[in-house]
Amino acid sequence: MNPELSLNDFMSACQARAEAALDARLPVPVKIPERLHQAMRYSTLGGGKRLRPLLTYATGHALGLTPDLLDGLACAVEFIHVYSLIHDDLPAMDDDDLRRGKPTCHKAFDEAMAILAGDSLQALAFHVLASDPSIQVPLENRIQMIETLATASGSCGMAGGQAIDLDSIGKALDLPGLETMHIRKTGALIRASVRMAALAKPDLQQHIADKLDHYAKCIGLAFQIQDDILDEESDTQTLGKTQGKDRDNNKPTYPALLGLAGAKEKAADLHDQAIRSLAGFAKEADYLREISAFIVQRKS
Ligand code: IPE
Ligand code: IPE
Ligand code: MG
Ligand code: MG
Ligand code: MG
Repeated sequence: MNPELSLNDFMSACQARAEAALDARLPVPVKIPERLHQAMRYSTLGGGKRLRPLLTYATGHALGLTPDLLDGLACAVEFIHVYSLIHDDLPAMDDDDLRRGKPTCHKAFDEAMAILAGDSLQALAFHVLASDPSIQVPLENRIQMIETLATASGSCGMAGGQAIDLDSIGKALDLPGLETMHIRKTGALIRASVRMAALAKPDLQQHIADKLDHYAKCIGLAFQIQDDILDEESDTQTLGKTQGKDRDNNKPTYPALLGLAGAKEKAADLHDQAIRSLAGFAKEADYLREISAFIVQRKS
């Protein structure tokens, strides 16, 4: 991708690249069992900001890696993300009817198919990490990539954060409790998007990997805080998902605990911290800097 692109154009290029890469790695819709494959494709293709693939490509760009080395990683993290959205929307979880501007997977198909589509996307993510030819690193790094995504997805990462979320309905979490929940349910996958790209450069110095990891930790938390803010103050049309669900479902959120102004201040502070983590990086890291700003300024 042309290094002179504005963030907007870089984002569009990454979105188009991710769309094609995801399409190529999903089972074709006529393959048996057709409805399951159609459900996987329905939820994955044609929507979403593709923030996690964008972070993978932008981290690669900062490290001088070409995007063709990152397609498998970008797809793996997006497959896990889509699986998490399908399950998050189920009646047993947030019970949402709208996702990415269209009916949720269990509405368009049925609950069993939505559960299985999520399960299958999760398996596909690890299949891609284990075997995708775009990933050209020593086996040791490939195993670290698999470990990174597994930890970020499981009971100490996304799924664990979701468990805390569901267990906290109607309870007043304190700030450390809320932070733990957000860092897991959303921050972990965002962090994995950056860390896997760093693992695609086998000779990367540890202190650089650590700075990228701290950047990713900050923006991951900021991302969920902004998601909570938008649930309060945006609208369903702009979001492509039902606005006001957190309040309806009595969810503990940053605006509920700190108020909207306090939540915005916290997000802005995390953006500053993320920028400071990249202080020693050259202009090749500008997309990462701009993505951090985008996360706290976005409207959807
Ligand atoms: C929504 O994520 C769920 C959260 C983790 C907050 P995104 O806002 O990245 O959703 P898409 O991928 O753009 O639909
Ligand atoms: C979702 O958090 C986190 C995951 C899907 C893992 P939310 O429940 O706030 O996400 P939205 O608002 O439904 O997208
Ligand atoms: Mg949820
Ligand atoms: Mg939800
Ligand atoms: Mg939300």
